[in-house]
Amino acid sequence: MYRFLLLFSLFTLFVASSCEPDPPLPCEGCPVDPEDRVITGPSTPTPFTLEVPDHMPRPIVDETNPLTVEGIALGRRLFYDKIMGRDSAFACADCHLQEKAFTDGRALAVGVGGQPGTRSAMSIVNLAFNPTAFNWDGGQLKIWEQAIHPVENMLEMDEDWERVLVRLRRSEDYPQRFRAAFGVGRTGEITREMAVKAIAQFEHTIVSADSHFDRVVYLNSEFFTEEEQFGADSLFFIENVPIGADHPGCGHCHNAPSFGDNLFKNNGIEDVASLDDFPDKGFGVVSGSRSDNGKFRSTTLRNIALTGPYMHDGRFATLEEVLDHYASGGHAVENKDPNITGFTLTEEKKAALLAFLNSLTDESLLTDERYSNPFE
Ligand code: HEC
Ligand code: HEC
Repeated sequence: MYRFLLLFSLFTLFVASSCEPDPPLPCEGCPVDPEDRVITGPSTPTPFTLEVPDHMPRPIVDETNPLTVEGIALGRRLFYDKIMGRDSAFACADCHLQEKAFTDGRALAVGVGGQPGTRSAMSIVNLAFNPTAFNWDGGQLKIWEQAIHPVENMLEMDEDWERVLVRLRRSEDYPQRFRAAFGVGRTGEITREMAVKAIAQFEHTIVSADSHFDRVVYLNSEFFTEEEQFGADSLFFIENVPIGADHPGCGHCHNAPSFGDNLFKNNGIEDVASLDDFPDKGFGVVSGSRSDNGKFRSTTLRNIALTGPYMHDGRFATLEEVLDHYASGGHAVENKDPNITGFTLTEEKKAALLAFLNSLTDESLLTDERYSNPFE
């Protein structure tokens, strides 16, 4: 008995230490987790309904991944846990930082190997309202399917899912958490699909709808400054703007309350001779249609002051540069969206548009404990 206890405590010591080298990959045909232990504890997840402010659209329900209290809690841990990356040294949260509205402040994301990737990390707020698809190019139809790829991507977390699963199954507390969220009875039943579904449940709950803009327009508890009002009514939104007017027209694609219609468009940032020359073909690769080359998702502008550098490749360092781009009318490529027309941008208009864009920052998101690192 004593010897068993000693062995057991050595085992827990081993699994508790995150600095241990990676466990080897299981041999072909061997059970993935040689221990395949029975898991005890609660196994009935509690259904969770996502409540969002009345002025936001209704959250989209993913029938393939119903939200539960335990699933969301598990997903939050996995999102912040470096156990998910190569050498247990990189987490989703290393590129999606809460204090930057879940982006990373870099033009191009940098993964565990230190090399930059090809695109800019996206803010993962308000995914529950996106009716189209995920990533800049719409390459992922479900949030949970999206989460499979960063773990495997060489330029992101560069890890093998089998190894991640071994670590999760052998860990001290994850098996109980998987049981609580998905009802599994043995460690060997824990799957990649459960892990990414839990992460997606957590991501689904990250809602940003408490900015100065929301408080002015929907809650009537604050007022716009004159400059913000001018930026909103006369420049950003498009109500009553005659066709062909000298007007920024941002609202065509970034309308309230989402501030991004999530459709795929060419907003004229790339100077190419033909539709075949885009360095990143974006939505064209996903749809398979040449006329979609160079189109990217018009994402949300909520918290935009915090999420620079801007565009799918982080080409603009500041919002001033973004405004200069739109004012120029962009590059004339045959599939450039007709709503990108160029407009006169005086210093006064620029300041007003910036003031308005700054009103979309939601400070409460940055410290909301429901979304913060559970290990701190
Ligand atoms: C190396 C940095 C990096 C890491 C690590 C990383 N991401 Fe990302 N994330 C990105 C980049 C870059 C994009 C844009 C990808 C694209 O368009 O191809 C992105 C996009 C996303 C999106 C799409 C958001 C939207 O609105 O479509 C989600 C969701 C997301 N990441 C979740 C995760 C999760 C979950 C993990 C961990 C399993 C993770 N990310 C790890 C950089 C990273
Ligand atoms: C025709 C639709 C359209 C219009 C009009 C439009 N945008 Fe965009 N916007 C997009 C698309 C598409 C993207 C993504 C492009 C990319 O990454 O390659 C984007 C991206 C952005 C980004 C970067 C988002 C990020 O997370 O990096 C900002 C900022 C932005 N737009 C602001 C504006 C402003 C301000 C206006 C008005 C002056 C405006 N947009 C008008 C379609 C549009």
